Amino acid sequence: MKTIVILTGAGISAESGLDTFRDAGGIWTRYPLEDVATPEGFARDPDLVQGFYNARRAKAAAARPNPAHVALGLLQRDWPGDVVIVTQNVDGLHEAGGADRVIHMHGELSRALCSACGHRWDAPENMAADEPCPQCRGSARPDIVWFGEMPYHMDRIEKALMRADLFAAIGTSGQVWPAAGFVQNARAVGAHTVEINLEPSEVTSEFAESRLGPASETVPVWVADLLSGVGRD
Ligand code: APR
Ligand code: ZN
Repeated sequence: MKTIVILTGAGISAESGLDTFRDAGGIWTRYPLEDVATPEGFARDPDLVQGFYNARRAKAAAARPNPAHVALGLLQRDWPGDVVIVTQNVDGLHEAGGADRVIHMHGELSRALCSACGHRWDAPENMAADEPCPQCRGSARPDIVWFGEMPYHMDRIEKALMRADLFAAIGTSGQVWPAAGFVQNARAVGAHTVEINLEPSEVTSEFAESRLGPASETVPVWVADLLSGVGRD
């Protein structure tokens, strides 16, 4: 049965009240990303960076999954083949919406990482600038992939894309690589490709199909279309 690979971005969590990055009023229109989302920014001012992620962690913890997250959880449950969800998002809304296999390529707000020994643990609600690692007392940072750092799990993602029969990108502007190039990987192995977004992304021309509109409406319809076809081919 067909393998479906789904890439999601901030747009899928927008209707859960979480900010996107590049829309009007988005996060990068309010914070200089070099100050809060780079290793250099963290070294310069750990207080500012921990405060930035503490605020985002609190907002994400209070957010609820929307029908798009729930629909993808259903698809993972009811699709007779493999459904691999690769998310650029650092919130836990896919899991809260019922998905049980999610690859977080940019890390997770709910996790902390020790820069000294590599230990990971559940982040406290508020991480201090000098938050100690429980293992080695070294300095802890949010377990988030910053600009200039390699995304996580690229080997697993590339393997999944190699066996994709259907690739969907949902709620992402296609401006950050390597995620923006995944559609090309999928096309190279003959997968059908669909972009599900509020508006055409930077890479919209790479997709065979486009479904425009708010994710909480478009994703449940897309999933229903897929599941209604199950057993027909
Ligand atoms: N439904 C569907 N799509 C939406 C909605 C919605 N309700 N609201 C916004 N969008 C779309 C926007 O049109 C835009 O194309 O979601 C996309 C959000 O784009 P970005 O803000 O650039 O977010 P994203 O693509 O996830 O950014 C990728 O950049 O800053 C880094 O690490 C960060 O993971 C992030 C990465
Ligand atoms: Zn440590």
